[in-house]
Amino acid sequence: RLLIVDFGSQVTQLIARRLREANIYCEIHPFQAVTEQLLREMAPKAVILSGGPASVLDDNAPRPPRALFDMGLPILGICYGQQVMMDMLGGRVESGHEREFGRAYVAPAGRHGDDSIFSGWFESGREQVWMSHGDRVTQLAPGFEVIGTSPNAPFAMIADPARRFFAVQFHPEVHHTPNGARLLRNFTRLAGFTGDWTMGAYREEAIAKIRAQVGDKKVICGLSGGVDSSVAAVLIHEAIGEQLTCVFVDHGLLREGEADEVVGMFQGHYNIPLIHADESELFLGALEGVSDPETKRKTIGRLFIEVFEKHAKSVGGAEFLAQGTLYPDVIESVSFSGGPSVTIKSHHNVGGLPEKMGLKLVEPLRELFKDEVRALGRELGLPAHFVGRHPFPGPGLAIRCPGEITREKLAILRRADAVYIDQIRKHGLYDDIWQAFAAILPMRTVGVMGDGRTYDYALALRAVTSVDGMTADYYPFSHDFLGETATRIINEVPGVNRVFYDCTSKPPGTIELE
Ligand code: XMP
Repeated sequence: RLLIVDFGSQVTQLIARRLREANIYCEIHPFQAVTEQLLREMAPKAVILSGGPASVLDDNAPRPPRALFDMGLPILGICYGQQVMMDMLGGRVESGHEREFGRAYVAPAGRHGDDSIFSGWFESGREQVWMSHGDRVTQLAPGFEVIGTSPNAPFAMIADPARRFFAVQFHPEVHHTPNGARLLRNFTRLAGFTGDWTMGAYREEAIAKIRAQVGDKKVICGLSGGVDSSVAAVLIHEAIGEQLTCVFVDHGLLREGEADEVVGMFQGHYNIPLIHADESELFLGALEGVSDPETKRKTIGRLFIEVFEKHAKSVGGAEFLAQGTLYPDVIESVSFSGGPSVTIKSHHNVGGLPEKMGLKLVEPLRELFKDEVRALGRELGLPAHFVGRHPFPGPGLAIRCPGEITREKLAILRRADAVYIDQIRKHGLYDDIWQAFAAILPMRTVGVMGDGRTYDYALALRAVTSVDGMTADYYPFSHDFLGETATRIINEVPGVNRVFYDCTSKPPGTIELE
């Protein structure tokens, strides 16, 4: 496997994507977690040091353990990763030069044969790359030679072929470095990866890891009915069988018919022991009068854990809580001291967790993206219609109800969402859309129905296309579809007299409204 040391760049996860697209297994670990012990235990075959917003010139600059450079491993440093390598290996990094952001061009400056990680580069002269840096390398560490330069980065591409150390000032993982994926593949080839990793292999490894972590202890798994937690549950069941009990928490924020559907599938199809916990009074009571999005998320996160802790006792002392946490949940909730990736939202299963918790976490999907979880779901034999379901967030309808949550609003929202999804299915659009839902807006507007005045709620409809939820485009419905859907919702859902369609992509919006 390959280890990616994350120094907090917003695009670190793209390194992982590029590698997995080339069937190479890799794991991302935040720099704080990369200790000598982790390096020994993980025994990676190669290491990539990511970019990040810090400066190696700062006193508390994040660094990998010194021992990393003495393990004989091939290492690739990207942007901040390059600077940290130079700084630790005896080169020089300076600030105060021209900052460089966005498109730049590198030209060849040294030897780069077929054997190097830069093979296939410069075939038609200079190469377009994506830069984003303030500091830059001004003197190479002993053993390194320069391979490519850009106007503002004289050491844009450098190599110490004898030690198999390579570094670039730009970001090869982003789309705007067209030849970047090739560079990453060359690096892995040089490190001895053959590109034969598959979901089947992931499944086997994940099962072994779960068994090693859990031993003979009991586990409860929080099941939301979404794809992620379901895949996690089936995987863990395969690993530890009877030691697993699933807890399906009905927090009163589910969609129409959801509880029956999920309970039916798990009890009927999988025979996995399942507790159906109806806790709607608890959740809705605690959310009464709350309108701040982060407070909602944290309240829900805390209550989930309370419920899980209660059931951990009721099944005879479970020590572990399994969750279907995904990589994007992690990255959007992480906030390093020192500034990197800011907290956008506290995903209920990560940043929304209480600080003290009596259960240890089992999160077998923590390194995966949504599309990869679906592939794993298919590998595990989950029914296609289930694996293809749109994502549904753990906090449920709470974050589709900006402002205060009331039972009246939830009832309207449930009905309207069902009509909207029915429309999408009837028009054969469900599988083209990554996620679609209705949200109820915290306002009433005036309308006229029949001969009377109405003063009712307005709804926002959302539909997006995406690969992994990290970025998204709004879905371009036809006007006919939108008109027909608005009419159906207003006719069929009392309490709604106006419908908007949300045309925001992500960024700058997020997918959910809160
Ligand atoms: P955003 O709104 O952050 O959503 O663009 C990206 C994806 O994540 C889902 N989401 C969540 N899923 N717990 C979850 O399990 C959460 O707290 C949460 N917040 C957002 C969202 O539905 C979308 O698919």
